[in-house]
Amino acid sequence: MGAINSVLQEHRVFEPSAETVSRATISGMAAYKALCAEAEADYSGYWERLAREHLSWKTPFTKGLNDSNAPFFKWFEDGTLNASYNCLDRNLENGNAEKDAIIFEADDGKVRRVTYRELHALVCRFANGLKSRGIKKGDRVVIYLPMSVEGVAAMLACARIGATHSVVFGGFSAKSLQERIEDAGAVAVITADEQCRGGKNIPLKSVVDEALGMEGTGSIHTVIVYQRTGTPQKTVEGRDVWLHELLAQQAEQCEPEWVGAEHPLFLLYTSGSTGKPKGVQHSTGGYLLHAVLTMKWTFDLKPEDVFWCTADIGWVTGHTYITYGPLACGGTEIVFEGVPTFPDAGRFWKMIQDHKVSIFYTAPTAIRSLIKAADVTASVHPRNYNLSSLRLLGSVGEPINPEAWMWYYENIGGARCPIVDTFWQTETGGHMITPLPGVTPLVPGSCTLPFPGIQAAIVDETGNDVEWGKGGFLVVKKPWPSMIRNIWGDPERFKKSYYPVDFSGKLYLAGDGAVRDATTGYFTIMGRIDDVLNVSGHRLGTMEVESALVANPLVAEAAVVGRPDDLTGEAIVAFVVLKQARPTGETAKAFAKQLQDWVAKEIGPIAKPKDIRFGDNLPKTRSGKIMRRLLRAVAKGEEIVQDVSTLENPGILDQLKQSI
Ligand code: WTA
Repeated sequence: MGAINSVLQEHRVFEPSAETVSRATISGMAAYKALCAEAEADYSGYWERLAREHLSWKTPFTKGLNDSNAPFFKWFEDGTLNASYNCLDRNLENGNAEKDAIIFEADDGKVRRVTYRELHALVCRFANGLKSRGIKKGDRVVIYLPMSVEGVAAMLACARIGATHSVVFGGFSAKSLQERIEDAGAVAVITADEQCRGGKNIPLKSVVDEALGMEGTGSIHTVIVYQRTGTPQKTVEGRDVWLHELLAQQAEQCEPEWVGAEHPLFLLYTSGSTGKPKGVQHSTGGYLLHAVLTMKWTFDLKPEDVFWCTADIGWVTGHTYITYGPLACGGTEIVFEGVPTFPDAGRFWKMIQDHKVSIFYTAPTAIRSLIKAADVTASVHPRNYNLSSLRLLGSVGEPINPEAWMWYYENIGGARCPIVDTFWQTETGGHMITPLPGVTPLVPGSCTLPFPGIQAAIVDETGNDVEWGKGGFLVVKKPWPSMIRNIWGDPERFKKSYYPVDFSGKLYLAGDGAVRDATTGYFTIMGRIDDVLNVSGHRLGTMEVESALVANPLVAEAAVVGRPDDLTGEAIVAFVVLKQARPTGETAKAFAKQLQDWVAKEIGPIAKPKDIRFGDNLPKTRSGKIMRRLLRAVAKGEEIVQDVSTLENPGILDQLKQSI
């Protein structure tokens, strides 16, 4: 399991301050318990009430949960709505038209403010533009864009016409993009000429061209290109169109396409246990409900807040807490194009100061790297910035170690701001286990208690509850509105991945190990129990990286494992057997570099193994199974205490212990 080594054992409990309690929407433990009790008493009715109160429906639904075809659950299915209407039009109707929806800060520091009225107009023109290219309800549209107003608008424009978007993170390779386009059967790609990150221009359109040159992408008839840098691009006649030219011809009004609550709002590909990423399919109604509720209850968003989620729209955190959640609540949010270390590692703190950010949501990896930077360079230490606008901090994506938690609490939050350590997944749509600021006493390193209504539990391998204090598998006992609906085109894999028969077929299996505190019942996540790694908060399958490695003509065999890493949480270690003799010394270094670059090209730079070890063979049992447990021990540099007599070739371990 991937939890990082923790030196500090933090047992202090941080009670919510009187001020936090008094302003919080859910205020006090009694209010939390009342919501849990309401869900307990009438589960579907609880979510129905919330869906009526927090979303705007075109046609009201008559029923909440439909579990007649479990585990393919449906929520609010006879209701109709539109996600972009909920994020835009209803803000024009309720007095937010001139309020800033987005404060965009570019990589170079330029700021652009966009009001709800302006965003609405942009999205309507964008949606009309999509329609003019023949894109319609039910079509899949791949979005491969940098962090930008246009990126958010592209997602909302798809939602407006009922097209299902599938955002692909801009760091993914042409091959990864091609696989996602093919699997989704997408008809269009929305991209940019280039993206700007850390003072550099990085190509996007040429990557799309490369992907579309590969097999399996014939479904694409349109490529829309946002001009970000103006670097000249090759254009394919009839297929490619500049976004600004497309928008110039469109009207600023576009009637939303009213869709059923179960209509797929988006697909988002994520890593699983096999080599092929899964297209996680989300609904419109249930998904949007949880986006709104968690904004209001976990982040306690109020009209005067400036909210900043530092994720990229290429990940689920960017979907729920950049595009849908903040806008559906009429919030003002920051959208940031760049990286935390450019022009220096004080960028986040300067932006919080400049824009008077009040709620800040980021990943432990970013915090850890900024702690390190502040230790080295005094001028980027947060004490040099005025962070008094902050009132709430959040963490997401990986376990936060107590040291990082304490630094974040003291140095960023000034020991005033609660930290919400939010546990959730691409598949869950929004927060599942998290503190609520006006309710939950905080314990560093624990994501504390389930969101009201979420039936999280810990079970053993037969699906029975384990006692508090004992570790086990994290499950969710009842379906909830924002849950994954299917793996696109692969219902069997959906059932096998999330509702396996060994767990009675009735429990949602998160894929994480967890434990509850013996006295408080607080949850602590111990890390993935499957072959999924979490590197800098990014999910990667070991099989995905292995498949990329063995696709290299030099490689005969490869096995990939994770190793705890102080900065990135986990690091990728690859054990490789080449078709030629095992390299050593400088040759080994050269091969390792070549293979790292290869993986970056096949998947994307985030998947590069940090450490590559070469062997004449891999440790296998006599029946030929690779002994991953041993490899994990070797990767960590642990003494091998296991019996290796069943190994076909015990000597191999000495070779693999040698790093290059
Ligand atoms: C991990 C990101 C500990 C976990 C939203 C989960 C966490 C995976 C936390 C999902 C947290 C996410 N504490 N671990 N607060 N949040 N994880 O799909 O292993 O990219 O299963 O969704 O990240 O990653 P995903």
